Amino acid sequence: MLRSRSLAAASAAQADPHTWALLSDTHIAGDRAKVNREVAMAAHLEAVVRDVLAQSRRPVGALINGDLALNSGETADYEVFTSLIAPLRAAQIPLHLALGNHDNRERCWAALRDDTTAKRPVVDRQVAFVPAARANWFILDSLDKTNSTPGLLGETQLAWLARELDAHADKPALVVTHHNPTLDPAKVSIIDEAALYAVLRPRRQVKAHFFGHSHVWSIKPDESGLHRVNLPAVAYVFEPTQPSGWVNAQLEPRGIKLQLRCVDPTHRQHGETKELVWRT
Ligand SMILES: [Fe+2]
Repeated sequence: MLRSRSLAAASAAQADPHTWALLSDTHIAGDRAKVNREVAMAAHLEAVVRDVLAQSRRPVGALINGDLALNSGETADYEVFTSLIAPLRAAQIPLHLALGNHDNRERCWAALRDDTTAKRPVVDRQVAFVPAARANWFILDSLDKTNSTPGLLGETQLAWLARELDAHADKPALVVTHHNPTLDPAKVSIIDEAALYAVLRPRRQVKAHFFGHSHVWSIKPDESGLHRVNLPAVAYVFEPTQPSGWVNAQLEPRGIKLQLRCVDPTHRQHGETKELVWRT
């Protein structure tokens, strides 16, 4: 016991303060063997966890950006999820969980108390301010109704976000939602997306918006130079050429380096790296 503790402490001590593991859309079922769209979700998350731990730079934190559960956020889903992420915990990598439209807030909170109840600055929502050496993460909660697709942040959460961004304007701000911004009123994903972007765009410290939901890997700037990073799904994809995987993020003084890590190491995009420069 003592030996494993000291090993874990050594792992934590080796964490690179600028490296983050970014995961999204794990879609874990209570039945570990469950397959959806020809993908065994538990096996995908296992492979991703192994790959995170195999990196030469140990991340200082891991973000898992919602749709942790398969469909409706069952307690059994979260029990299996908890067992699959246990190696990250054993390596003392702090986990930051967001919720998606296939999660159930109360059941997730009950199953993952250690990761979700430390601080909850907005009542009834799972939001977090996570400071890092070169940037601050603002993790939002866009879950409106379980198993209903559109996301909603709400006035209280957006007011909290605006206050927190203003209070921490000295460092680059990275904002996270599960739902993807479409910037197209005809294809709404976040119902109050316009209100969100009215908070983000004028605050020049906001450098990037990270999201999942669409099971697509893409990076696009908006017209204000704000980077929009669509994290790939750990689980299945809807478009066959899309990768399943995660993103190894290295914060730089004026930007971020993002490396795609595919579950399938023969995927043509496996290992591709994008270097983003922050808007000024
Ligand atoms: Fe999803």
